[in-house]
Order: sequence, then structure tokens, then C-alpha cells
Amino acid sequence: MTETEPSLIAPPAVVVIFGAGGDLTKRKLIPALFHLKSQKLLPDSFALVGVDRVEMDSDGYRQSLSGGIEGFVGEGFDQARWDENVSKAYYIQGDFKDPESYLRLREFLAEVDEMQGTPGNYLFYLATPPSFFGEIATHLGQAGLAGEQENGWRRIIIEKPFGRDLASARSLNQTLQQSFQEQQIYRIDHYLGKETVQNIMTYRFGNGTIEPIWNHRYIDHIQITVAESLGVENRASYYEEAGALRDMVPNHILALLSIIAMEPPNSFDADRVRDEQTKVLRCIQPFTPEQVLTQTVRGQYGEGRTPDGVRLPGYREEPGIAADSTTETFVAMRLMIDTWRWAGVPFYLRTGKRMLGRYTEVMVQYRHAPNRMFSDSLVSGQNVEPNRLILRIQPQEGIGLEFNAKVPGTIPRLNTVEMNFDYSDYFGDSPSTGYETLIYDCLCGDPTLFKRSDNIEAGWELVQPVLDVWGALPARSFPNYPAGSWGPEQADTLLARDGKVWKGIK
Ligand code: BG6
Repeated sequence: MTETEPSLIAPPAVVVIFGAGGDLTKRKLIPALFHLKSQKLLPDSFALVGVDRVEMDSDGYRQSLSGGIEGFVGEGFDQARWDENVSKAYYIQGDFKDPESYLRLREFLAEVDEMQGTPGNYLFYLATPPSFFGEIATHLGQAGLAGEQENGWRRIIIEKPFGRDLASARSLNQTLQQSFQEQQIYRIDHYLGKETVQNIMTYRFGNGTIEPIWNHRYIDHIQITVAESLGVENRASYYEEAGALRDMVPNHILALLSIIAMEPPNSFDADRVRDEQTKVLRCIQPFTPEQVLTQTVRGQYGEGRTPDGVRLPGYREEPGIAADSTTETFVAMRLMIDTWRWAGVPFYLRTGKRMLGRYTEVMVQYRHAPNRMFSDSLVSGQNVEPNRLILRIQPQEGIGLEFNAKVPGTIPRLNTVEMNFDYSDYFGDSPSTGYETLIYDCLCGDPTLFKRSDNIEAGWELVQPVLDVWGALPARSFPNYPAGSWGPEQADTLLARDGKVWKGIK
């Protein structure tokens, strides 16, 4: 591998992971750090400190990290490189609720700084249940580990859920901000770590042909689909409390929507980008209680079958789920954005568990071309389909454009054809957990891909009326879609009322 330009190597630092023994740490964070090291983006002066409740020493922790690591890192794993780097991992036992633990951590970090030549730069990664976020941040502050006055920078990463409604999100933001400044707080929405999501900005703003027609004059409507084929897996207790709305909409789906709908920022400076993303969320027409009933749809899967006939259990049959649960596993909604760019353009969103396939995509449907000239000459009954742009986020990664072409032959016929760009054709596949860019950016102090407090609150402001109405009127028709389908009929009706249909999946 060629040498990395020194200016691209992250600064010396210690990454401190709370929840060091958890799944996220083993499956995602450690492999991501390994990939960054393999790409020569981490400095020699670097260390990892794991904090958790289990009694263990650093050797024991290194062994526990090494178990199964090859599988988590995947392609590109190199045992010799792993052995060399795992020696930079340390462990300290600590109770997240005990102030003493943080004092011991502070002393320990000073020792690690001595051993590894790290100058007091600490990234605290909270890979813990969300109920600990506020408490850990407060203790770090009280132990003098949050302030940047003396030496070195201090940053804290937390992951969704950022609260469970508007009030708790505000309160979490306030608690975090009592110990850390806003610019030290990095809130991860892992959708922003996806290459295909980041590419939407490049696609929109880096090409002369896209942005001029990215508005209500040319676009008929936009659909965002995040469909999952899996059910709730082993997360029953979390999911019963959260439901599909809280789990996906104020975070991942609105992250996608804000990138699609934002105005161009005047630079790629983190705050300019995030200003525009928050601004557009604030321009979404808020739901009145009556609109919640007409503009949103909730669903829960019942038993169903895979396309090859295998039975899939209903949500209420899944382990740990109440037999009369009214938690939604599917959400669809219609949003309108009150800006000059988007006046009159509906945005339809849908997400659900146990759907027919796993696929996330954004479909931009352009307005029809005037049909008159074709209607005289085409075979009767044939429609001229509108152009559609499809931004494929996952699992297939790419961009497609559907347009009409003349079918060769004497009889005039049109057919819709698709022009496709596939990431793997151009850029190959590089091993990634999706966390590499986010951790690297945080180490480098670039918060562009992280959510600011105002963005989080704007998302909850939109969702809160839906939570209120749904909470007050528990669903009586659940289950209302079979596992292995595209969701409840009402989601089709939501679009049919506007004369539209969900894009089919190929
Ligand atoms: C998580 C949700 O944030 O995102 C999960 O809690 C969901 O319920 C997951 O399955 C989807 O992420 P991805 O990257 O698989 O689309």
C-alpha cells in the first residue's frame, strides 16, 4: 500500500469505549478501527480503552476481542497486523453509575497517555444502552474529563435513540450540554455513514444537470422506502417500547429526506450543511391531529409466508412480544414541504419489518412529458411513463434512471428502459462496517455527518403529533399485513388518493 499523506492521518488519541464487552463494540467498532488502521489512517500514537462492568484485566480484554475477530473484520483480515495492534487495547473495570470509576479512569488515561504518547485527546464512545447516556456524560464532566481547557480535545459519541419523544430528546440534549459543548457532541445516525447516502449530496450538487430540475416544476413526487425482511430478532423489549415510528422515522428516514430536500449549503463546512438540513425539516408542514389520521398509516405484521412458502410468524408470536401488542412494525406517511422548491410535491415515506425484501431506495418521479404527440401515433392503450430516478441505497448500491425509448420496428411503440450505475462496477467493494468514516471524522474533528441538537429536535417535533394521536387511539386492526408482503393496504390507499402508486421492486 502507498504511504498515506501525513495530513490525512488522524491525530494521536485514545478511544474510550463504554460498553466495551457489548455487541456493537465487537461487531462494528473494533473491526472499523482495524480497517482504519489497515488503511493507514490511524497514527502510531493511538490506544483503545474499554470500560465495562465485568472484572477483567487488559490481557483478558485483548483475548476477548480476538475471539471471532476474523469473522467480524471479514475480507482483508491479517493476523499479524491484528496481533500488533491489539496490544494497544486496554481495559478498566468500571460501574457507569459510580463516580469513583471515572476518577480511576482519569488516572488510567494519564498512564495510557504516557505509554502510547497520546497527548490527552480522548474520544468517549458510548456503546451502552441509551439510559446511560446522560449519566455517563455527567460523570465524565464531574471527573474533569469533558473540559478541553487544559490539554487535548475531548469528544463524545452517542448513537440513537436520542430520546423517545420531543421532551426526552430536549432533556437529553440539555444534560449532555451541561458537561460538553455542542461541538464536542457527535450524535451518530448510521445512515449518514453509508456511502450511498453521502453520495446523494455529491450527486445533487456536483453535477450540472441535476440541480436545475430538482424542484416542483419538474418533480411530481418523491418516495422513500426502507424495507426490511427481518422481524424484530432478539430486540423485543426495545422494539415493544419503540415501534417502527420511533425506531426509523425521526432519525434515518428524516436524515435521508433532509439530504434529498435541503437547499445547497454555501460550503461543505459542517455547520453550513447541518443548517440547511435542519431548515428543511422545519419547513415540513406539521400534522394536525386530523391529518395524522389521514396522512399516516401504521401496520403490524401477522403470520405470512416467504415467496418459497416458508411460514413466517406474526409479530405477536415473536419471543418476548405481548400477545395483544399494539406496537407498529410498519409506518407510511405523506409529507408536504413548504418551500419554494417543493411547493405541491408530496413526499411519501414507508418503512417496515418483515416485508417482502430488504431494500432501501429513494425514487424521484418526474412530471409526465406532454403526451399529445405520442397519443396519436402509439398503439392504443399504451401510456408514456414518467421518468424516474432511483437512488439505490442498499443492498444494491447504485443509481438508475428510467426513461422511454422507441422499440425498434415498424409499429410505433415505446418502452421504458433503465440506465444504471452500480458502485461495484466502478469502485469495487471495500471492506467496511459503515463506522469507519464516522469514527475517522470524529477523530479529525469533522462533525458534518453527525446530528446537531437542533436537527434531532426538529425531527421529534414532526413526529410528536403522530405519537400523541397513535398513543391516544391504540390500533384496533392489528395485525393488518402478512409477514413477507409490502405492508398494509392502507399504505397503497394513501398514494391512490393522489392518483399515485408505490414503485414496484425489481
Ligand atoms: C436501526 C434500527 O437503527 O437501523 C433497526 O434500530 C433497523 O431496527 C436498522 O433494522 C436498519 O439499519 P440498516 O443499516 O440495516 O438499514
